Amino acid sequence: MARVRVAALISGRGSNMAALIAAAATPAYPAEIALVLANVPGAGGLSVAAEHGIANETLDHRGFADRAAFDDALDARLRHHAIEFVCLAGFMRLLTAGFVEKWRNRLLNIHPSLLPAYPGLDTHKRALADGVRVAGCTVHFVRAKMDVGPIVAQAAVPVLQGDDEDALAARVLKAEHALYPHALRLVASGAATVEGEQVRFARALAAPPVLFNPPL
Ligand code: GAR
Repeated sequence: MARVRVAALISGRGSNMAALIAAAATPAYPAEIALVLANVPGAGGLSVAAEHGIANETLDHRGFADRAAFDDALDARLRHHAIEFVCLAGFMRLLTAGFVEKWRNRLLNIHPSLLPAYPGLDTHKRALADGVRVAGCTVHFVRAKMDVGPIVAQAAVPVLQGDDEDALAARVLKAEHALYPHALRLVASGAATVEGEQVRFARALAAPPVLFNPPL
């Protein structure tokens, strides 16, 4: 079976990228991580990619006149590596509408909230300030607007009494590491597709039990 050639784009430590690499180590996984590209020199995830023998590159956005020039160069690198699908994995940079359109429905993002709640930065801080009892993460297809697009999968975690930002972020991040490989599997295998700006699944998937927080 030909596996989908995926690029993971990162800006930092790349723990979600590492989760995708780990999942793709199983031959039956429908995608391979063929390229890791960072917009920040020295991003932690680059060395992780190198340790796994995965092509890794840095494209420093500061070297470009504007967003469009950076995105054109990014597109060229992706094509050079015959990339078919892109996963944003802590890529903290807005992409132009032109780039997003070129990669329409071949571009996923993970965000540490239950979208459409808390798009943007400081998600955990805002969730804690609002006193929500459930937090989580979302994998979605990317559209031109930040943290918007057809949702593939979400994972929910409880907010616990005494949580600070770090504690909540750590609990959500653990869920992210399970969610992203799951979502990419669904998309790369063709089990999840976009129809009319909603994600449709080829077959019924067993639903998990309801999460109550506090518990019943
Ligand atoms: C993750 O929590 C990811 O959801 C978030 O950045 C972190 C990157 O961690 N992304 C965003 O906030 C995008 N809007 P990682 O580099 O260890 O994967």
